[in-house]
Amino acid sequence: MSHSQHSIYVFDAYGTLFDVHAAVRKHATAVGPDAQFLSELWRAKQLEYSWMLTLMGRYRDFWALTEEALDYALARVPSADHSLRDKLLGAYWSCDCYADVPEVFQQLKQRGARLAVLSNGSPKMLQAAIANAGIGDSLDEVISVDEIRIYKPDPRVYDLVTTRFRAFPEAISFQSSNRWDAAGASAYGFRSVWINRNGMPEEYNDIRPAAVLPNLTGLLTL
Ligand code: LAC
Repeated sequence: MSHSQHSIYVFDAYGTLFDVHAAVRKHATAVGPDAQFLSELWRAKQLEYSWMLTLMGRYRDFWALTEEALDYALARVPSADHSLRDKLLGAYWSCDCYADVPEVFQQLKQRGARLAVLSNGSPKMLQAAIANAGIGDSLDEVISVDEIRIYKPDPRVYDLVTTRFRAFPEAISFQSSNRWDAAGASAYGFRSVWINRNGMPEEYNDIRPAAVLPNLTGLLTL
C-alpha cells in the first residue's frame, strides 16, 4: 500500500499516544498489591461511563468521568492509599507519550501527511497532554468529542474527521490501541490500524482492522 493513498493519519489519544496505566505504575509501591487491578478498573469504568452516557443520550465531559471512575476504583480497592487520588488524576494532564510517538509523527509529517488526534478527552485534557509531550507541532488537528457531546464509537464521532478534512472515510488511516475503537472506526469505513501495544487477544472478529501493529513504528513501512 503506497503512503500517498493514506496521507491523513488520525490517532486515538489515551492508550495509543499516552499510557493510561503509567500513573498507577509510577505509584505502584504506594498503591500496594492491587495496583494493576486498580488501574484496569479505573480505565474500564471510565470507558463504561462514556458508553452508558451516550446510549442514554447524555453527556458529561471525559474529565468528570475520569474522576468518577477513579473514585469507584478506589472504593473497590480499600488497600490502596486514597490520598494518592490527586496524584493519579494529575497523570492525565501530564502523561508521557509512548516513546515511538514523536519520531513517527515527525517522519509522517516529512512525507507530507496530515496528522490529527480524535479523542474522547476534553479539549483541556488533550491540550495539556499534547503540550506536555511536545508533539503539538506535528498535529494539524486535535478533535475532541466534546464538540458534539457524544462518545466513541458512535459513527457521528468519526464523522468529525471526514467533515474536518473533507475526505472520504477510506482515505483516513485511523490508529487506536483500543480494539473496540478500531472496530468502531472500521465499521465507519476508515482504514483502521489496531496498535496492539499490550499483546491483547483478538476480539470483535466480524469487524476487523485493516492492519495490526505492535506500535506506531510499523506505520512507516505499511
Ligand atoms: C480516547 C479514549 C478511547 O482517547 O481513550 O478517545
